[in-house]
Amino acid sequence: MNNYLSIKDIDSLPEWVAMARKLKEDPKADKELGQGKTICLLFFNNSLRTRLSTQKAAMNLGMEVIVMNFGNEGWALEYGDGTIMDQGTSEHVKEAAQVVSQYCDIIGIRAFAGLAYRDEDEDERVLQSFKEYASVPILNMESSVGHPLQALADAITLAEQNTKTRPKVVLSWAPHPKALPHAVANSFVEMMQLQQEMDFVITHPQGYELNEEITKGTKIEFDQEKALKDADFVYVKNWSNYNDYGKVTCKDPNWTMTQKKLGKAQFMHCLPVRRNMVVADEVLDGKQSLVIEQANNRTYAAQVVLKKILTTLN
Ligand code: CP
Repeated sequence: MNNYLSIKDIDSLPEWVAMARKLKEDPKADKELGQGKTICLLFFNNSLRTRLSTQKAAMNLGMEVIVMNFGNEGWALEYGDGTIMDQGTSEHVKEAAQVVSQYCDIIGIRAFAGLAYRDEDEDERVLQSFKEYASVPILNMESSVGHPLQALADAITLAEQNTKTRPKVVLSWAPHPKALPHAVANSFVEMMQLQQEMDFVITHPQGYELNEEITKGTKIEFDQEKALKDADFVYVKNWSNYNDYGKVTCKDPNWTMTQKKLGKAQFMHCLPVRRNMVVADEVLDGKQSLVIEQANNRTYAAQVVLKKILTTLN
């Protein structure tokens, strides 16, 4: 595998999940694989889990890690072809990507959606430009439209926690004061579409439909109570309006996840999460919350991906 850009780069989800669970038993089993190799992690946006878990994964594999907060500390990059650079940008991505490639063997990129222009976000300009001009593999650490490392960690968590032959998994929208991207929800949906043995439903207020090219035929239920009936896992996530692009058109607190609504289901969220806006304290502090384990699995998701990329480099 040369790049990990989206869920489409997973050739066998069961195999990747099994590999992650094995690595978890002995995280340093492959510490020779990354010897002499370096990964550069470029953050155009904030992070806690992605930054630390990807570093940890790389270190478990024996790699050296360089991290740069590109958004605050790097030169403002130009992406347009033929632009006369007489405005705010100082360096073209063509040079930047080639230069960074000389310092490392894999480049990780985090670059969120701007949520101003849908077409621009869907072009995944930062991620795709680095893919085009870099000479080393690219790792998506959350782009405009996807967060495939998170979704792989979620698949590991589901596999570890599930005890049923056909569990019901619900992705439920929740209110949030700010406009958030669709990336986590998109990749979770794409990952769930690979789960043949799970009953999957999305619930959100009318008007909050995700991109139909991603949801395809996935079942959508606008009545949250109906969707949550008999659920085994409830994944809660906010996203901004996709049709009225990037706008917050609903903050209805009736969509906040409570213990009563959760029932006996296990609770999932990628974090960070706003308490008592997205989900009630009682859920996060309760025994049915899997959020800390999901965050733990970010290390093993990243380690599987890095292992697969390193195998092609060696
Ligand atoms: N879930 C996740 O990606 O967390 P961070 O934004 O803290 O990296």
